[in-house]
Amino acid sequence: MKYNTDKFAHGLIEIYEKKFNHLREKPINLLEIGVAKGGSLKYWASFFNHERSKILGLDRHIPSCEFSENVSLINGDQNDIKLLKQTASDHGPFNIIIDDASHFTRETSNCFNSLWSEIKSDGYYVIEDWGVGYFPGKSEYNGMAELIAQLLCQVPTLGVSDIYLEASPLRSILFLKKGKAKWGPLNF
Ligand SMILES: C[S@@+](CC[C@H](N)C(=O)[O-])C[C@H]1O[C@@H](n2cnc3c(N)ncnc32)[C@H](O)[C@@H]1O
Repeated sequence: MKYNTDKFAHGLIEIYEKKFNHLREKPINLLEIGVAKGGSLKYWASFFNHERSKILGLDRHIPSCEFSENVSLINGDQNDIKLLKQTASDHGPFNIIIDDASHFTRETSNCFNSLWSEIKSDGYYVIEDWGVGYFPGKSEYNGMAELIAQLLCQVPTLGVSDIYLEASPLRSILFLKKGKAKWGPLNF
């Protein structure tokens, strides 16, 4: 496979391509938390092909492979709120933030609470693999499904204009699109 990321095997790339196709030619500032072997950063660098697009990865283990010029990396922990805020002030605001790191509740929540404000209007905050919270015998992921439910409950106050949620035993992902929306009664 050209890009060393499990986003292909988990069927997430096809979702991303549908959701982000309209942004391909635009100058996109993207932060992905969780880099692993760097495959997804390489994929984003190729997918968002505008010459001013910038791809930033944050992980506590940085891979030693080479990246194209528009990819940069930050070595750090997603629990380090000061680092997250500094990252946002140095590199933000972002069109897209993807949390594909630990998938633990505290970490996912810290990142969301620190970085939601750093998303541009009409930008997206994505949480991958939150369905680990349903896995039997994996108590380390306890609370992930509840966290997603809480975020969905907060939608009117967060300023979310669109939600895309997918959950099956094999793949789970949440997209929150930032924007003004009137979540009011429909005129039936
Ligand atoms: C699922 S992999 C990322 C996969 C990558 N996004 C891709 O699509 O190829 C998870 C990554 O999260 C990182 N990680 C786990 N806990 C972390 C933490 N507390 N802070 C920063 N990175 C963390 C791991 O080092 C690992 O590289």
